[in-house]
Amino acid sequence: MANQPSVLVTGGAGYVGSHVCKALHRSGFVPVTFDNLATGHREAVKWGPLEVGDVRNQDLVADVMQRYEATAVLHFAAASLVGESASKPLEYYDNNVAGAISLVTAMRRCGVSRIVFSSTCAVYGMPEALPIQETESTRPINVYGRTKLAVENLLADVAATGEIRTVMLRYFNAAGADSEGEIGEAHAPETHLIPLAIQAAHDPARPLHVFGSDYPTADGTCERDYVHVEDLAEAHLQALRFLGETGSSRAFNLGTGHPVSVRQVIAAVERVLGTKVPTVEASRRPGDPPRLFAAPGLAGRDLGWVATRSDIDRIVETATRWRRWA
Ligand SMILES: NC(=O)c1ccc[n+]([C@@H]2O[C@H](COP(=O)([O-])OP(=O)(O)OC[C@H]3O[C@@H](n4cnc5c(N)ncnc54)[C@H](O)[C@@H]3O)[C@@H](O)[C@H]2O)c1
Repeated sequence: MANQPSVLVTGGAGYVGSHVCKALHRSGFVPVTFDNLATGHREAVKWGPLEVGDVRNQDLVADVMQRYEATAVLHFAAASLVGESASKPLEYYDNNVAGAISLVTAMRRCGVSRIVFSSTCAVYGMPEALPIQETESTRPINVYGRTKLAVENLLADVAATGEIRTVMLRYFNAAGADSEGEIGEAHAPETHLIPLAIQAAHDPARPLHVFGSDYPTADGTCERDYVHVEDLAEAHLQALRFLGETGSSRAFNLGTGHPVSVRQVIAAVERVLGTKVPTVEASRRPGDPPRLFAAPGLAGRDLGWVATRSDIDRIVETATRWRRWA
């Protein structure tokens, strides 16, 4: 352990962060999880130490960074429910933006200069063109997206001084679970389509709500770009390598480039489980764009990243095999 570089992983007890910790461990890093367990799970921290704390506690973050001699930071910790962000804007700005200020200031105090940030396709809002390129204008349409864009701007501004180098990864829809079934998605409340569809298949008393079936898409339901959480994990390793090799700071889309509709997700769950997914047709949710999918070419070119595990059936199979703690 003494010779292995350690990486501070804020939010490492959460869904994406815990999968990245496993990948880091496999690649010879010590992932040091720093998490307040607000939405994370102690049981998900299996591949390195857990330090319980809040990223807004700058002294504590700096202390942990120093004690473990962190060489880089992966920043997942955030509040990330779009609906909740509208009713709790101050809490979202505080957690996501004040949290990032605290973290980057602690990095400066400790001389840590590399940070990979979990951003989101929500920074694009309603895109003008599809597939979405990184050059698309960033006009988020919800509080959550605006806090994420604020952090991107903050990181880019600090990077421009030369104090830090940053890769900002704009995930599309993270999905699936660890292929060995050790960890997976366990949000409460769950708002993501795939776990909800699996839940509905197991429990007909809780049918899946299909929000809008009159969109201008092939089958009338919304289309999204689902990317396997293990593919996302791989991208973080490549981002760390990229930051080690070059000085440039930038944002990358992480998606497959292939849109999948709500009905196609339901069909995949029915195929994999061999059971019907009971559904209820509901009206459109305000602010849901009909189609969102990435142009992932920049990550391919500069990070060497391509989604290889994001076939929808594989995503559903891994999500199904995973048994949650909750
Ligand atoms: N899941 C997705 O589809 C998706 C898509 C785009 C972007 N993202 C971003 O990826 C990141 C991880 O998402 P996730 O789905 O794993 O969420 P998650 O809620 O499972 O994980 C977030 C983790 O951060 C911790 N945390 C939150 N606030 C904290 C604080 N102030 N101090 C310390 N720890 C704190 C939580 O306890 C949790 O363990 C988030 O930043 C999210 O915005 C996720």
